[in-house]
Amino acid sequence: MESKTVKFRVFRFNPEKDSKGYFQEFTVDAVKGMTLLEALFVIKDRFDPTLSFRAYCRSAICGSCAVRVNGHPKLACKTQVLNEVKRFQTDTLTIEPIENQPIIRDLIVDWNPAIDKMKALNPYLIPDRNVVPESPNEESRVSPEQFHEFDSFTDCILCTACYSVCTAATLDENYAGPFELGKLFRFAADPRDALKGERSKIGYAYNMWNCVRCERCADVCPKGVSPVTGVMKLRGMSISVGLRNNPGARHVFAFYKSLMDSGLLNEVLLPIRTKGIKAIFEQLPLGIKLMLKGKVHSPFQKPIKEHESLVKVMKASLEVE
Ligand code: FES
Repeated sequence: MESKTVKFRVFRFNPEKDSKGYFQEFTVDAVKGMTLLEALFVIKDRFDPTLSFRAYCRSAICGSCAVRVNGHPKLACKTQVLNEVKRFQTDTLTIEPIENQPIIRDLIVDWNPAIDKMKALNPYLIPDRNVVPESPNEESRVSPEQFHEFDSFTDCILCTACYSVCTAATLDENYAGPFELGKLFRFAADPRDALKGERSKIGYAYNMWNCVRCERCADVCPKGVSPVTGVMKLRGMSISVGLRNNPGARHVFAFYKSLMDSGLLNEVLLPIRTKGIKAIFEQLPLGIKLMLKGKVHSPFQKPIKEHESLVKVMKASLEVE
């Protein structure tokens, strides 16, 4: 059977005796199929019983065993050691706690701040009595198409891997966070819910427009959920329910107008249409630098050759929506 001796550099931190974290090395003979979680148990059983990490289900269901492997968040129970060795082309794997959350001990982080943010969004179904009958003996019907809209978001296991890589969550304490907004969208899109699109107003209050669409949340999700997609859809819903007079929504309209006008992105008018006249003062130093380097185009752009067909496609896509 395929096997390899693998060195694990494991992050250690005990707040009762360490002023800061450090790495400790352990060597484990990994056989084909051995998961990272199994390797951590080997280390705990054979070398150091004080090593602390979380794990319950061992089946990629409970979401408790997320750690970083060579900088990438993964579920330890779903990650095979030899696959990582091959992926990183190294015999050394560095195992650290996931980021953006306070470290309690070794590989264990404090989920509470992230989970509290989710709780604040009321992530549960509030039954719409026009759709959900009072009697439990009657069905509330959801069509396959309707279910498809939010199905993937029900797969979230709250491992917080997405939260750990989210730039907006790192920089903005009031930003709800990716899995939290994914949950919010899950209920906003559910036809049985009484609030539906109105829920996007909660996302707005928790700075959903601060998502920079880096898509790291979708990259690292071990269940294939794309929280960023939920955020984009919540933004669309917020515009539909009337939240239009804010920089995020104005940016969308400015982008749209720019393409409808010429087929090009008008980078001179875009900030002004988004932020108003104050954008001129904010962007002036950068604008002058770009102008001196010949990088600023005229605000009066001629339509591109394919402009007419582009407008047709854009109008048709709106009808489909
Ligand atoms: Fe439950 Fe890994 S132990 S997801």
